[in-house]
Amino acid sequence: MPNNKFTGKILWRNRFAFYLLAVGSACGLGNIWRFPYVAGENGGGAFILLYLLLAFTVGVSILIAELMLGKKSEASLLKITHRVSTTHKKPYFWISRLTLFITLVILSYYSVISGWVLHYITQFVVGFFRGDTLHYISSLNMKVLTDNGWLQFALASVHLIVAGLIVGQRITNRFEKILTTFIIPVFVFLFAMLLVRSLSLDSTPEVLRFIFYPDFSKLNLRSLGHAIGHVFFTLSIGVGALVTFGSYFKAEDHLPKVGFRVMMVDVMISLFSVLLVFPIAFSIGEKPLTDPSLLFEALPRLFMKIQFGALFGLGFFICLWAAALNASVGLLETLASNYSERYLKSDRKNSIWLITVITLGFTIIPAFSGSALKDVKLFDQTLLENIDSFLINYLLPISGLGMAFLFFKALPLADQKDLFLDEKTESSYALINYWQAILKFAAPILIAAGIILQIIALVRG
Ligand code: TRP
Repeated sequence: MPNNKFTGKILWRNRFAFYLLAVGSACGLGNIWRFPYVAGENGGGAFILLYLLLAFTVGVSILIAELMLGKKSEASLLKITHRVSTTHKKPYFWISRLTLFITLVILSYYSVISGWVLHYITQFVVGFFRGDTLHYISSLNMKVLTDNGWLQFALASVHLIVAGLIVGQRITNRFEKILTTFIIPVFVFLFAMLLVRSLSLDSTPEVLRFIFYPDFSKLNLRSLGHAIGHVFFTLSIGVGALVTFGSYFKAEDHLPKVGFRVMMVDVMISLFSVLLVFPIAFSIGEKPLTDPSLLFEALPRLFMKIQFGALFGLGFFICLWAAALNASVGLLETLASNYSERYLKSDRKNSIWLITVITLGFTIIPAFSGSALKDVKLFDQTLLENIDSFLINYLLPISGLGMAFLFFKALPLADQKDLFLDEKTESSYALINYWQAILKFAAPILIAAGIILQIIALVRG
């Protein structure tokens, strides 16, 4: 297998495994944990429709642009912005600085949530020893975890160190092999089985109405920004993570097709996650759908209704953690290749550990937001909620816009056409104008509108 000179990663020969990997890098906690409660928070159907519209327009267009940037320049984002800054004599550097900062904060926040998944895995083991696993698991209260800063910090550290080891020891390939050959198939099986069971609950008709009959009066000033932010987060766009990925593709790969397929699978997993979680949540009744603990409190109730539920439950959380680990490895890899290329000019291993330690430092804020930092509130929200909101609903779309901007600066029109048009895909000739119009006009307008409306909502209180 040929080696990629940029990150030393091995190019995948097997097309199917490669797709699995591309999809795997987009799918993670964003789809399974975050989407259901954000959709619940924003009133269900109408928000989901808005999210779908944005994913099929702005989301997929930026995704394709990022992949192209990587494939054409075969460099990290930092190098690209440096090149552009020197040729255009303008400070495009701010884009890569901003994206690297966002990536770092996302990784620290993501590690805390991954720590929650790890906590459930350990509690399954405790339950097995106690002999009443399912009762024990379903009686767990997330508040016990979110109130315990040290525990969250410890769990996030374990997660980050494992991610650091995978990237640092250069065993990313081996990890990805395990993921594509074992974890993803098992995950698909477990997910499908749980989904069927969940959809057979009595609450399903009510859930389907909630999801598929959009009630537009439920949308508010924040909804557009929340939908854009979530699209960016779930597709891993806006921070140049896919620039690295794009450089792994071969000349004959048609990136618009790749991007579209990745987006489709990602969106489908998000919809399936809502269909998995909501029927359980609706049948519990008293639980609000709007809480980040939604997934963790709903799923155990489903496991209780299934034979060998404890085993399936443990399997599900292990797979979920592997997916979260894969996303974290991607984030860390992006940071490491950028930093070691430009700033540190040092050994890759050292930069990985340095970044892991810096990220761990940042982890303190979300980890302790429910305990020692409980009283530090901004806009009536905890620090974790503020980080989530500021990062995903404001910063990520802004840096995404920076990416679109950079794309037009770094890739001449001829290259854009060359990469987009494909004789075998006739529709590419019709779609190229839409794609460019979305990047140039629709994306900036929608992102600006999303941010302005959120600020108005904030000021109004
Ligand atoms: N998309 C991933 C998820 O849904 C999270 C993620 C991975 C991400 N890499 C990213 C988000 C880069 C933003 C940027 O879980």
